[in-house]
Formats: sequence, C-alpha cells, structure tokens
Amino acid sequence: MAFARQFKASLPACPSQADANGLAIVVVGPGRVGSVVVDRLLSQTSRWRLAGLGNSTRMLTDTADRRKWRKQLASSEQPGNLESLTEHLLSQQARKRVVVDATASQAVAARHADWLEAGCDVVTANKWAMAAAQPRYRHLAAARRDSGQCYEHAATVGAGLPALAAIAALHAAGEPLLAVGGALSGTMTFLTGRINAGQAPSQALAEAVTAGLTEPDPRADLDGLDVARKLVILAREAGQALDLSDIAVESLVPPELASLSPQAFLEATDCLDAYWHKLARSAPGQGEVLRHVGRFDVNGTARVGLERVGRHHPLAALGDADNLIEIRTASYDQSPLVLRGPGAGIEVTALALWSGLCRVSECGRPCR
Ligand SMILES: NC(=O)c1ccc[n+]([C@@H]2O[C@H](COP(=O)([O-])OP(=O)(O)OC[C@H]3O[C@@H](n4cnc5c(N)ncnc54)[C@H](OP(=O)(O)O)[C@@H]3O)[C@@H](O)[C@H]2O)c1
Repeated sequence: MAFARQFKASLPACPSQADANGLAIVVVGPGRVGSVVVDRLLSQTSRWRLAGLGNSTRMLTDTADRRKWRKQLASSEQPGNLESLTEHLLSQQARKRVVVDATASQAVAARHADWLEAGCDVVTANKWAMAAAQPRYRHLAAARRDSGQCYEHAATVGAGLPALAAIAALHAAGEPLLAVGGALSGTMTFLTGRINAGQAPSQALAEAVTAGLTEPDPRADLDGLDVARKLVILAREAGQALDLSDIAVESLVPPELASLSPQAFLEATDCLDAYWHKLARSAPGQGEVLRHVGRFDVNGTARVGLERVGRHHPLAALGDADNLIEIRTASYDQSPLVLRGPGAGIEVTALALWSGLCRVSECGRPCR
C-alpha cells in the first residue's frame, strides 16, 4: 500500500483528464505492478473507468471498491477467461477501450493483435508480444499498422526509461540505428555491483532474493533471455529484423542447476561461485568491473552476457538496480545517446503503464 500511496502522490495530473471519462479499461494481471495501476484507476473515480480485471484463474467485472478488490478477486466465482473479459470490455460504452497487460504470460501476449483488430488499445509491460518469433511478431506489426489503435509498450524495456520513444523518434526522422545496448537488467546490475564489491555470487543472489529484486525463480533473471527479449524489442523499434535466435546468450545458470525445482535451486546456489568465475575468465582485475550487458549492432554483433569494463566506463558507475541504454545512430555515433535510471521496480514500471494510458487517451481513433 505504501507503493500505491507513493505512486499516487508522485504522479502529475494526466493532461487529458478533462475528457477521460470515455476510457473503459481492463487490467490483465493485477500482480505487483498491475495492482498499483488498479488502485490508481479505482481512485480516479469519474475519469477513467476500470471495467474489469483478471488473472489466470479468476476475474472481476464489477470492481467498484478500491479497498476490497483484492478480496473480491480472490473469492470471485468468475473463472479467469480472456475471451469473456474481452467481450465484457467490448460491451462497454466508451470513447476508447483499453487492455492493460501486466502479466509475463505468452498466452496473454498472443492476444495483443486480436485486441488491436477488435478496436481496443493495448498498454503492456509484457515483453512476449514484441519479442515474439516471426510470424507472430509480423501479425502484431500488421495489426498495429492497420488497426490504427494505440500500442504502448514503453514499460517492456528499462521499466519505462524512454529508450523506445527515443529510438522510434530517430527512426521516424530517417536516422539508421547503428547499435544499441548496455545494462538492460536491474537485477543483474545489482548482482554484478555486489560481486564487484567483493561478495560471492551466491551471497549476492541471496541478498537480491531477500530484497525482492529477482523473479520468484531467479533463473529467469540469470539465463539472459529476459535481456535478449529487451534487445529484440529495442532493435525492432528501429526496423531491424532481429530475432531471439540471432542472439548469442550466455546463461549464468550452471547446467547442473537448470532443471531443479525453484526451491532446490535456491538451496544449491554455491555452484554459482565457481561457474561465474569461469565465465568471467577470472575475477575482474585492478581497474576493471564486471557488468551484465546486452549488445546489438548492425555489423552482426548480438550478444548477452558478462563483460569486464574499465572503472571509468559509464557502465561501471551504475547504482543498485539501474539500467544504462546506449543508442548509436549516424548522428549519435562518436557521442552516443545514453539513458540511465532505474531499470526495475514496481513503481517505475506502473508509472510507465500509467504514462501509456495517458498517451492512449490522447492518441488514435475512438471506438468503432
Ligand atoms: N516487477 C518489476 O520490477 C518489473 C519491471 C519491469 C517490467 N516488469 C514486467 O511487468 C510485468 C508484471 O510484473 P510483476 O512483477 O507485476 O509480475 P507478477 O507480480 O508476477 O504479476 C503477474 C500477474 O499476471 C497474472 N497472470 C499470469 N499469467 C496470466 C494469464 N495467463 N492470464 C491472466 N493473468 C495472468 C498473475 O496472476 P496469477 O499467476 O495468479 O494468475 C499476476 O497477477 C511482467 O511482464 C514483468 O516482466 C516488471
């Protein structure tokens, strides 16, 4: 609840509040991030209307009470069903109908194109749609182009740091992307920061788990694929045809721990120490630090993994869970465009979704 209060207090008024009565919104995935958006929507009584919400097992289509919705959802007799939630949204009288996807579910991501084609706008923190394999990605790209609906996915990379907006603006201005990359995982910045300060990887991971910085199964942070998805999304924003399969991804999960249960993995993390030491070839020397980096360039580099950088490199100075995204184009080559800030966190990710709702309210076409 402290998050919600802090989030609410820190938000500027949305520029379109005066005419925002006509937005009907469903939130899919009211978890850590999504529940902040739900709370915020339910405190905006007369402006944007929360028409429904649902997780994988239950849903609610009558969500008037800000204090009780969690209990109501937990005891709801309406089974979670994306078709029913969509039908409910489409039945709403509204200037715009919007789906907020705050899940990390491939099944939900697979619906994005359908929602756009049905006349809904989509605001998402879920990376699976924009990082999908061809031809699913082409289907989504065509739906974005042909439907005229808004598709807001800034929350998928850098927890909303405006990297995608910067790349899209440069691309629209005819600037070819030369390279993009950097520290794209707040969790990995935290871990490498602790290791650089002398902690063993297993201890650093235990600290990150305790601080709630990792996914429930930390292997989802360590296997490099989440960062690879972000790299795909960044490159595609500049019209580059990058697929996950094009990226050399170094997993930091020792093979012998890959198939354990999440609990057994957490009890066996001692193996990380020797494995990471081997991957880094040796501990960082004087004047060097270890960072987890994803890079793509138009000459064929596409990789995710550990790198050693000099202590004066911008990556070396990152704070606890920061991201740093470096964008090179013809005009930003010698001196690249650099965005730096928190790359994980419930509040900043929820803020990115909220900004997406503000842009939806301003843009695109009204409901058919
Ligand atoms: N937390 C962060 O710091 C952060 C930062 C940047 C981006 N993100 C992204 O934001 C999204 C949400 O993250 P989070 O931390 O809030 O995750 P979370 O707490 O695990 O919440 C995910 C929500 O999605 C629901 N869900 C899962 N599968 C579903 C399905 N098939 N249909 C409907 N609902 C489903 C879950 O409910 P049940 O499983 O109970 O059904 C839960 O309510 C993710 O895509 C994540 O990558 C998060």
